[in-house]
Amino acid sequence: MAFLLLLVMLTACAAIPQDLSGKMFTFPEETNTANVRLKTSTQDFRAVTVCLRSITDLSRDHNLFSVATPSAQNAFLIFKTASSVIDFFVSNKQVQFGAEDYKLNMWHSICSTWDSKTGLVQLWFDGKSSIRKFAGGSNITTPSVILGQEQDSFGGGFDVKQSFVGMMSDVHMWDYTLNPYEIQKYAEHLNYTPGNVLN
Ligand SMILES: *[C@@H]1O[C@H](CO)[C@@H](O)[C@H](O)[C@H]1NC(C)=O
Repeated sequence: MAFLLLLVMLTACAAIPQDLSGKMFTFPEETNTANVRLKTSTQDFRAVTVCLRSITDLSRDHNLFSVATPSAQNAFLIFKTASSVIDFFVSNKQVQFGAEDYKLNMWHSICSTWDSKTGLVQLWFDGKSSIRKFAGGSNITTPSVILGQEQDSFGGGFDVKQSFVGMMSDVHMWDYTLNPYEIQKYAEHLNYTPGNVLN
């Protein structure tokens, strides 16, 4: 039933952009099919910020936010591994951040920023910032943005053992790096600037 609802919602979304604020995506079972595809209002990114809130009971690997392009399957990927690490990929380059506070059955907020000019990436977990790390990367163009599944090819190549099971809300994407003050407001559910590319 929930899967059906998701399908109905997806069909509706494909037709007209909708305001989904205050709503939630539910991924109720482990599959290699259920996914949410998001269409960005911009096709060429030289910087990205993504913020989302999620809850899960998965201790295995799982996707949180998967962006593929025709030339890079992990163009921009936020991925929780079975160990206490969040893998972050930009243009297929992997950067790892410790995520010791990633507890199951609890809502967490995750924000990540990347800027092609400096090549630096940073992760905010429940409002706490990581150090900045180098990932490099050039423009991300014609992105395929998918929630619920990790793309091993452009728009597909799903692996059931990397699927997301749980709920997700407040998914935002910007085509610039948000400053720490704005990210703090997002983490604390205050009045923040909604994503200009996805919200
Ligand atoms: C990168 O993206 C920016 C913003 O869309 C654009 O102005 C610029 O021309 C792009 N650079 C390249 C090398 O494609």
